[in-house]
Amino acid sequence: MSDVVVLGSMNMDLVVRVGHIPRPGETVLGRDFVTVPGGKGANQAAAAARLGVRVEMLGRVGADAFGEAMLANLYAQGVGTAHVRRDHANPSGIALITVDERGENAIVVAPGANGRVSVEDVEGAEDVIKQAQFLLMQFEVPLPTVRAAIGLASRWGVRVILNPAPAQAVRPDFFQGVYCLVANETEAEILTGLAVRSLEAAARAGQALRQMGVPVAIVTLGAEGALLSTEEGDLHVPARKVEVVDTTAAGDAFIGGLVAALLKGMPWPEAVRYATCAGTLATTVLGAQTSLPDAARVEAFFREGRP
Ligand code: RIB
Repeated sequence: MSDVVVLGSMNMDLVVRVGHIPRPGETVLGRDFVTVPGGKGANQAAAAARLGVRVEMLGRVGADAFGEAMLANLYAQGVGTAHVRRDHANPSGIALITVDERGENAIVVAPGANGRVSVEDVEGAEDVIKQAQFLLMQFEVPLPTVRAAIGLASRWGVRVILNPAPAQAVRPDFFQGVYCLVANETEAEILTGLAVRSLEAAARAGQALRQMGVPVAIVTLGAEGALLSTEEGDLHVPARKVEVVDTTAAGDAFIGGLVAALLKGMPWPEAVRYATCAGTLATTVLGAQTSLPDAARVEAFFREGRP
């Protein structure tokens, strides 16, 4: 039994810190090279598991060393991996990541096996999905697969939290059956056509996302926190200032925190505040799954910041 099923990507992140992210045609000398388990799906699964949530991962890795390492790492963090398929025809997904001195990054993903996660994979996992309380998904696996999983989950009353990242334009009816959308400024802009450069604009984008048939929309705003949009109105949840090392996976930590908080029974404003704490803490450590905070750190940070 799991509280949360994550259908999504698993990538090995190949990370180099640089003084600045190279422009086209430029070569820069970086610092040490590190490999870190990543992928938005696996990151969100690990983020929730570190916060005490029972999580099952659905997806694909290649039958290669990166695939083995990613599965072992997820399992060690308490995520169920029995339903991750080993794809013998495609390599594991990887992400090339440069991180600059301000902690900003540039990421190129080669999806590999993630790009083969199929509608049949979803149908084969119906028994796993139907017993969960939440299904988390992103846009790093094929969109027809995501759409099929939204339909299956909503038939069973499983609440879908969708992170449309990396951003891709979809028809507005794609989101029918989604319970909560979590998008950053860029993703919200691509989906709604509204530039998100202020809190007012974030609120307008949140409302536009809800008009696509989604009851709750959250626009994450990096160092400015997050904007929650529900039928009860809009709420800005600010983030506290920290020393930023690397913003990679901060959004994934946010979503892990969000689902953990909702499972604890927190109302939306509190849940978004808890999620913002998890996301903020993830920016203080280099790497994706290396940076995800555990429950003790998030609880302490959450209590400290209580008004
Ligand atoms: O959200 C961060 C993740 O995006 C990285 O771990 C990388 O693998 C890409 O999927």
